[in-house]
Amino acid sequence: MTTINKEYEPLFTPWKIGNVEIKNRFVMTSMGGTNLLGWMENNHFDKAGAEFILQVAQNNCGLILPGCQPVYNPMFGQWLYKNDRMYEDLKKWMPEFHKTGAKLFVQLTAGFGRSFTISEMMETLYTSKILRVLAKPFMDLDKITASASASPNRWSDKVPSREMTREEIQEFIDAFAKSAEKLKYAGVDGVEVHAVHEGYLLDQFTLKYVNKRNDEYGGSLENRYRFAAEIVKAIKKRCGEDFPVSLRYSVVSKTKGFRQGALPGEDYVEAGRDMEESIEAVRFLEEAGYDMLNCDNGTYDAWYWAHPPIYMPENCNLADVE
Ligand SMILES: Cc1cc2nc3c(=O)[nH]c(=O)nc-3n(C[C@H](O)[C@H](O)[C@H](O)COP(=O)(O)O)c2cc1C
Repeated sequence: MTTINKEYEPLFTPWKIGNVEIKNRFVMTSMGGTNLLGWMENNHFDKAGAEFILQVAQNNCGLILPGCQPVYNPMFGQWLYKNDRMYEDLKKWMPEFHKTGAKLFVQLTAGFGRSFTISEMMETLYTSKILRVLAKPFMDLDKITASASASPNRWSDKVPSREMTREEIQEFIDAFAKSAEKLKYAGVDGVEVHAVHEGYLLDQFTLKYVNKRNDEYGGSLENRYRFAAEIVKAIKKRCGEDFPVSLRYSVVSKTKGFRQGALPGEDYVEAGRDMEESIEAVRFLEEAGYDMLNCDNGTYDAWYWAHPPIYMPENCNLADVE
């Protein structure tokens, strides 16, 4: 029998998200590319992705989150919930996964808004009126880059974001709930909502430097966090209060403005979410129904907090997350 160094013993103790028990503290967080239902291609049950995830589970990882799945696929504009065959295939595979004792949460994303990575080819598609119309059925750039308010894209000056309509917001809330219901039917243990984190679309609604709306989705804290709150309420309504929902969350934005990140130890004025707002926001989001917050810091304007490269201080997010 292997003896475990006392220092590491807590890693082998169980914990809970809502009523779901996770056998140990080893978690594989989402990484685009480790997807179960396809990534930047037509949605399908991805056998190679499933094989990789199964191997991670067989190596004693307690909780696995495959790479994020857009509820509205930027490629071909497919809604994730509209694919019954895919959920049937997933349902057949889940018992094999569960034999390992691991749990599976699928991360569902509202998408990127102004953080959508724009290539030169996309700039050409967007700036030519004819090409923009022709490209629409496979990549509707106007829709997939829409944000809380009109704002500059993170990467390109040629593809600015427009304001999302209230109808589009409702469509997304509905799509989260329907996708979560199908995943629950297939035997998946929970979902994670992506993301009031890293300046992704839902985060753009919460951030004062991006959200300038005058309707019920802008202004007060309650209004700015309403989109994320309505998503968890809609999921719980369809899947039941017991179905666990995590939220990917950035505690502090570490951002000075559009395309201007703050460095560790720097004295700066926070343009996004500071600690004072974060404490209030966390209470609001928990009250709305989220069972867990999966935390780090940053935005796409300060991306090196959420994806810390080697030159960032070790555990650079831990103090704020605590
Ligand atoms: C290639 C890559 C893709 C990622 N995709 C996602 C994602 O889909 N959803 C998410 O919440 N985080 C994503 N992340 C962030 C990771 O889950 C993780 O939080 C981050 O890499 C920091 O952890 P690390 O220091 O162990 O790499 C991604 C990271 C990488 C490197």
